[in-house]
Amino acid sequence: MWDDLSHHAARIGDRRIEALFAENDKRAREFSVEALGLLFDYSKTQLDEQIRAALLALAQDAGLADRREAMFTGAAINETEGRAVLHTALRNLDGGAVTVDGQDVMPQVLETLERMEAQARALRADDVTDVVNIGIGGSDLGPAMAARALSPYHDGPRCHFVSNVDGADIADTLRLCDPERTVFIVASKTFTTIETMTNARTAKAWLADKGVDEASKFIALSSNAQKAGEFGIPEERVFGFEDWVGGRYSMWGPIGLSLMVAIGPEAFRAFLRGGQMMDTHFRSAALHENMPVLLALVGIWHNQGLGYATRAVLPYDNRLARLPAYLQQLEMESNGKGVSMDGADLAVQSGPVVWGEPGTNGQHAFYQLIHQGTRVVPCEFMLAAEGHEPDLRHHHDLLVANCLAQSEALMRGRDLEEARGKVAGQFEGDELERQARHRVFPGNRPSTTLIYQTLDPETLGKIIALYEHRVFVEGVILDINSYDQWGVELGKELATALGPMVTGETPVSGKDGSTAQLLEFLHRYRR
Ligand code: F6P
Repeated sequence: MWDDLSHHAARIGDRRIEALFAENDKRAREFSVEALGLLFDYSKTQLDEQIRAALLALAQDAGLADRREAMFTGAAINETEGRAVLHTALRNLDGGAVTVDGQDVMPQVLETLERMEAQARALRADDVTDVVNIGIGGSDLGPAMAARALSPYHDGPRCHFVSNVDGADIADTLRLCDPERTVFIVASKTFTTIETMTNARTAKAWLADKGVDEASKFIALSSNAQKAGEFGIPEERVFGFEDWVGGRYSMWGPIGLSLMVAIGPEAFRAFLRGGQMMDTHFRSAALHENMPVLLALVGIWHNQGLGYATRAVLPYDNRLARLPAYLQQLEMESNGKGVSMDGADLAVQSGPVVWGEPGTNGQHAFYQLIHQGTRVVPCEFMLAAEGHEPDLRHHHDLLVANCLAQSEALMRGRDLEEARGKVAGQFEGDELERQARHRVFPGNRPSTTLIYQTLDPETLGKIIALYEHRVFVEGVILDINSYDQWGVELGKELATALGPMVTGETPVSGKDGSTAQLLEFLHRYRR
């Protein structure tokens, strides 16, 4: 089946995307899907009917429909860890029973949600000015991204996110906080992550140093209530979740508490509702009209079909500034794997490198390469029809015009003839030719655009669930376990072993020449 994609890649050769529009005046509609108030337009790509059919066949052959049902119904699809994958249950507000090992998990999910709401209301009503979420990876990126995305709805205490073990992160944050009026949320599924535990202990020491009783200052979000208890956080301030919620899929449950404190329980429920709406769409829409499926198929076509190794996520929505970082974990920790489910080497490349920045900032930084560099970078634009600043409508109009202009420019390009015309008045002869060549844009560069009305909590929920399901679909087609992350282990083990050599407790030994040299330099220069 992968051969089919290679054949199509060879068949289309250097065909122009613009020609596809010229051939079919309905192309835009036929290569778009609109659902739940979102429009996903993938017509500015090389996909044609045959390629789309081949991609859909790939999804069908991979057993997508059955795998999807297996996920939603609590089968242990995370096979290397023997776990179900049920972050969808966290937003299943009115969807009925979801069973794991014969037990309905929904009563527990809803009870925890209500406890979180009571806790959030209390913090919002109290004299608390600052809430500091201490967590990393999935215990940080989701709520940090969403708190920024939903800042127009932020009416609770200030929220800070401390993740890095670099002391600069917590030091800079504590400087902004009043110890009497700050609450720390220690977010860690395992409650063992070195960065998070180090930062949490530093927060504790800071309170002690300021003479503030820590008893009511800490909340834990964790699957490991025992470890949270050992840290000194009593049971009633621990919000637990089960091992069927992966870290990078966890913002819908207790890990979202800081977001709930910021925007309030009602807006948080709207966020969950948006996620649930996308779940229903994903579970019920036919594959050829299914937004997450189509988003995934475009990804597979670009990465595995055409060999484009990266994809840029370009939100023309400044409040989505942290979305590329969030998606880096979601997509790369999920689908950056070298072996298939049965342990054999992958037949094709694993998931792509994901990167990006909000527009229009990126335009003045890396778009040069996207337009004229020798590598093709498929671009995923995102755009709201309306901003939250009615008085600044002219800003939004410019933002929209820029977003649309970029996808148009990527597709159209500018040929040598047109480039010559641009410089004809300034140069002549060989110099004109030379100058013109610098102004050629190859064009024919693919992009997609996701457009929505406005970035409110419900819409953000839809967008995040859309991307989660995209990862799932790509993982199924690649036959990857998207829900483990063994690739993060080796570095953690080596860092633990290096610790005493860094402090000088043990001599440097058993290290390669480079690592030994770096340690030696550090020891020489450390005061
Ligand atoms: O090291 C990777 C990872 O395990 C992520 O998958 C996870 O989101 C992050 O660390 C934080 O883990 P925890 O929530 O257990 O502190």
